[in-house]
Amino acid sequence: MEMKKFEVLPRHIGFIMDGNGRWAKNQGLKRGEGHIAGAKVFKKIGEYCADLGIECVTFYAFSTENWSRPQEEVDGLMDLFIDYLIDGDSRLEENKERQMKLKFIGEREGLPQELLELIEKAERETKDYNKITVNIALNYGGRAELVHSVKAIAEKVKNGEIAIDDINEDLISQNIYTSGQPDPDIIVRPSGEYRLSNFLTWQSAYSEFWFSDILWPDFTTDDVDAVLEDYQKRHRRFGGV
Ligand code: IPE
Ligand code: IPE
Ligand code: MG
Repeated sequence: MEMKKFEVLPRHIGFIMDGNGRWAKNQGLKRGEGHIAGAKVFKKIGEYCADLGIECVTFYAFSTENWSRPQEEVDGLMDLFIDYLIDGDSRLEENKERQMKLKFIGEREGLPQELLELIEKAERETKDYNKITVNIALNYGGRAELVHSVKAIAEKVKNGEIAIDDINEDLISQNIYTSGQPDPDIIVRPSGEYRLSNFLTWQSAYSEFWFSDILWPDFTTDDVDAVLEDYQKRHRRFGGV
């Protein structure tokens, strides 16, 4: 496949994988079928980002708020993460070939034991791969992440490891799940919604945004190209002139 060349590549892209349910409804299918279709797109887009040479990509797979969905849907999603995202047949080989490091960001507490073990295994097996980091935000909430960070920092103050005056933006960045990674340069939200839904709250302070009506299961590598083309034209000023 001929790949497009881009002058400026974002170092980190975030994808909010939204619209699976509406896609399924449009096709006369159950919501779960939409999630299955969405998982296939996740895989394809992750591989495409790796092939483009992007350093880091984050996919929003399940939010801390998504537990409020019907039990059947939640169970289906957990099974899907187990079957498809983590334990897929060829996952290991593909991760190796593309040097994809998998990292799960979000609360571990509350996830099924089987999923937890697979998450740990996937992270262990891919920890030395160094071309792209694929963050999967699973049971992730930006506010919950900040609560963790505040607690971890408070603990260090309490133990006398640091002083209150040592608390600064860098320290907070070091105490969140994406520690050591660049902040997302651009966040993509399909499905016609114009909100972050608790995604990368701290990290998105200076992110660009790309919205579209496409439903996630219809998202293609051409759409990634459109995001990247658009990104070339953005003038990021970071408060300067
Ligand atoms: C996103 O698709 C997947 C998850 C939140 C797990 P939705 O399930 O939110 O799809 P819509 O928004 O109902 O179409
Ligand atoms: C955001 O989608 C979370 C994920 C894509 C995992 P939602 O469908 O949960 O977001 P809201 O409810 O429309 O804000
Ligand atoms: Mg949704």
